[in-house]
Parts: sequence; structure tokens; C-alpha cells
Amino acid sequence: MTARYTHFAALLSDADATAMIRLCERFGSYGMYGQKPIAEELGRGLFQRHDAAMNYIRTGGRFGRRESFEQAAVRTNYFRETYAYDRPVVDGIEGFLWHEGFLEAARATFDCPVVVPAIVYANLLVPGQELAVHTDVPEFRGANRTKDPEWLLVVMHHSGLFERWRMPIATGVSWFHGCRGGDFAFYPEGATGPAATVPAAHNTAILLDTDSIFHGVDRVAEGPSPLPPLRIGMRLSHAEGDRWCVRSGEEPIVHYDWDDLRFSVSWKAYCFPDEASRRMAEEHTDDLTRDGVMTALVADLRRKGRLEDAVPGGTDLALLLIEEYIRFPAPAA
Ligand SMILES: [Fe+2]
Repeated sequence: MTARYTHFAALLSDADATAMIRLCERFGSYGMYGQKPIAEELGRGLFQRHDAAMNYIRTGGRFGRRESFEQAAVRTNYFRETYAYDRPVVDGIEGFLWHEGFLEAARATFDCPVVVPAIVYANLLVPGQELAVHTDVPEFRGANRTKDPEWLLVVMHHSGLFERWRMPIATGVSWFHGCRGGDFAFYPEGATGPAATVPAAHNTAILLDTDSIFHGVDRVAEGPSPLPPLRIGMRLSHAEGDRWCVRSGEEPIVHYDWDDLRFSVSWKAYCFPDEASRRMAEEHTDDLTRDGVMTALVADLRRKGRLEDAVPGGTDLALLLIEEYIRFPAPAA
């Protein structure tokens, strides 16, 4: 079955779209988004998104390009900052947070009349960067990324065992300024279907269930120069006019023009079928527990013949769960 999604050929007015570019410049400085290794027993030492990282390294991404681990890290560690979290954290994002077109598309796509915007964040990718194919981190009543590893939440959704507790989240991804390369690639017919692509064109957007639909970002066009040695801790900052600079502390590492960058703004909203479901989530009257989740997953693995009597240790169990439940699309031939 083809998943529902909505494409916006012109998301904002011309003036408001230009204002998003100015807001991006005014916000000024963007940190590199990186993952810390997991410290708890379950999956100790793995990355939060071990599923997507492992698939990317194993397959070489959507086009099966093989590279070193170090190079793969530079390609996928992009720059991110938050513009709104429940409420605006920067002036000028109010209209985007409460965008009527996104709200309406979320209601229609998810068949849920109660839509509650939650977060707006900006992603900036530099030439040569891309985003590995993945599904986003879902949320359940009683299980979310503040207390559970991200890979486990993804496993939970792909297992289909916890749908009663899932809080559907609509994601709108919009692009401003445009860029060369960097298409948004997604799999509306599921992991075994073909990929569709949408160019990251100025003032366009797509709204879909990114927790369920595999998606990624194709490589942003790169020039002849090799990838710079980008590392966690570096920041991408607006310099002046059309110029941007990646710095390590005060030291400039590489300069870019606006035209080199891929700037996207993502919007996420909770979608509830009715007010009662919203209250159930807010009042925690029907929450999952970690014990309950693990018992159900282990029982399912046993039913599938993937597990004998003994349950393996934390990291082996995590790898088994990822392997069993998260089936990624194969790279393009
Ligand atoms: Fe995503």
C-alpha cells in the first residue's frame, strides 16, 4: 500500500520564505549533530541510531558507495539547531510552528483531528554530506527518547507489537534557498518498493509519517576539493552576506557560499484521533513500561524461533532486535 503524503509546491508567501532565510542567518551558528554511545546495559556501546548507522556502513547508502568509517562520519554528521520546542525559541518562527497548511495536511494524512505542533528544527548540510536512510524515532505512551534508547523505539514501531501505545507524529520537511543535489528520497511503498525523490527546492515542503516511511537525503553536490575534516564540536556560522564558515573553536576550517548549503526546516506534530487520546498521553493513564516492552519483544523473538531458552546479554540482544525487526530498503542497483 502506498503511504499518504502531501507535497507543497509553495509553502509560504515569497516574503515569508525569504524571512526564513534571514532567520537562518540571524540564528547564526549551528552545532554538529552527533550521537553519544549508549551507557545503559541494553545495547551498551552502540550508537543511539545504531540501526541506521550500521545499515549505512554495511551497504554504502542508497547508491551502495563504499567508504571508510571516518569518511562516512563526515558525510552524515550535519549541523542542527532547534527553532521551536513546544513554543518558539527564536523570534519569527511562530507562523511556521502554527502553519495552517501543515496542520491541515497532518489532519488529513493521519486521519487525526487533534494536531499539536511540538518542535521545529533546522538542518544544514554542507557539500558532500548526506543523510543515511532511516525512519525517525517514534514515541509511545510511556516510551520516548528521554528515557529509552532511540534504536529500541524504532524496533518497537517496526515490530508492530505496540501500536496501541504509539503516538503518531506528522513530520513536515521544508526547504529554503534551494541547493544542488541533496534530494529528499523516500519509500512510499515500503522498504521493498522503489524510492521516490523530491528536490530540496526553495519554499517547497513535504509532509509524511517519517516514523514509518524510510527516507534519507541524497548527497549534496560537492566540488573537486576533498571533504574537509569535519568533527563533532565544530560549528557552522553565518559570516556575512552570502558567506558561511565552519569553525573549530575560533579556527576557521572551511568556507561556503549560501548556494553550497542545503537548508531544511522540519516541523513535527503529535496527531491524536480525539481529545481523550490526548488526555491519556498527558495524564499517563495507559503507559508502557520498559519491562513490559522487553517481555513482549523477547516472547515475540521466541515465537519466531529466533531465541532459545537463554536471553543474550544487553548488546547482543540489542543487535538481534535491530536485525530481526528493522528491514531497510536495499541500495539502488
Ligand atoms: Fe528523518
